[in-house]
Amino acid sequence: MDIFEAVVAAHRPALCGMAWAALGRVGVLAALPETAEVLASSLGLVPHKLVAVLEALAFEGALVRTGTPARYARAGAEPATAGVDTASLPGWASLAEILCGAPPASAPPETLSAYHTHLTGIAAAKAPALWDAIGAHGARLVDLGGGLGAYAAAFVARRPGASARVLDTPEVVALAVQRGAPVGVCFAAADLFEASGEADVVLLANVLHLYGPEQAAQLVAQAATLLVDGGVLVVEDLALDGAGGPAHAAWFNVNMAVFTEGGRVYQSDEVRAWLRAAGLVAEGDGPWTGRVMDSPWCAQDVELKG
Ligand SMILES: C[S@@+](CC[C@H](N)C(=O)[O-])C[C@H]1O[C@@H](n2cnc3c(N)ncnc32)[C@H](O)[C@@H]1O
Repeated sequence: MDIFEAVVAAHRPALCGMAWAALGRVGVLAALPETAEVLASSLGLVPHKLVAVLEALAFEGALVRTGTPARYARAGAEPATAGVDTASLPGWASLAEILCGAPPASAPPETLSAYHTHLTGIAAAKAPALWDAIGAHGARLVDLGGGLGAYAAAFVARRPGASARVLDTPEVVALAVQRGAPVGVCFAAADLFEASGEADVVLLANVLHLYGPEQAAQLVAQAATLLVDGGVLVVEDLALDGAGGPAHAAWFNVNMAVFTEGGRVYQSDEVRAWLRAAGLVAEGDGPWTGRVMDSPWCAQDVELKG
């Protein structure tokens, strides 16, 4: 189970209560029923963050969503807001202010190491199945935002003679180097938006949700520039289904509203559209993979599968 799946499983009523209380504080509850667009403009709220909260509460049944554009109304039973343990969800206490445009919450720097250790555990458990699902596409991996290199280590371990380069922030690279790089894996500090190099396989694991749609599309396009002909870009991330769930994705979407400027959880079709826009043929279900087109005339044959 992912860290946020565990948080949602343990704290779902608290998440609902905090989101409900925040909507009350910014005047949304008193203005329902209404569309998100009207609510955001009349109350001065950040539109995509408001949508994240409304959608999560609609998924939980605390709000009812009808029509196009979606209009949200109270559903009857209200989430309990008293006695909610806000200490278990740092940052979320500021949700109302963040909805009004306050800067996102930030995690204290001293938690970086524990955060990445946790991510590494999750990645190490998932990575073998990911690389088995992708199959053999060459021996050179560039892992964009690869953290402490768990996906890269699994890639190298499963492919004789393979090598991997992990790009991340200077702070994360320093942590990784301190822990010792696995054989065949090297780390470099770089801004992913300026990533360069040449790879058979490029991985973007749990990075796109940190950014708004324009930047996420830009990252996919930048990642595609690293690929050799026939190379594969792999995107591994949470995804929202068309019905506003699953629960951990709906609430992680709110978590991104709390902790990032523009980050959010996307639907797989959005990611596939970015792969196509970057000149890749999207294939398969998740993880989303894009194969670089070998020749220009393939463009006519672009088809989305899955
Ligand atoms: C949620 S973590 C995912 C880590 C790893 N890929 C995984 O799935 O476990 C996102 C990583 O992307 C890195 N990152 C995000 N934006 C970046 C940027 N613009 N330049 C370099 N690294 C970035 C973060 O430092 C972090 O290590």
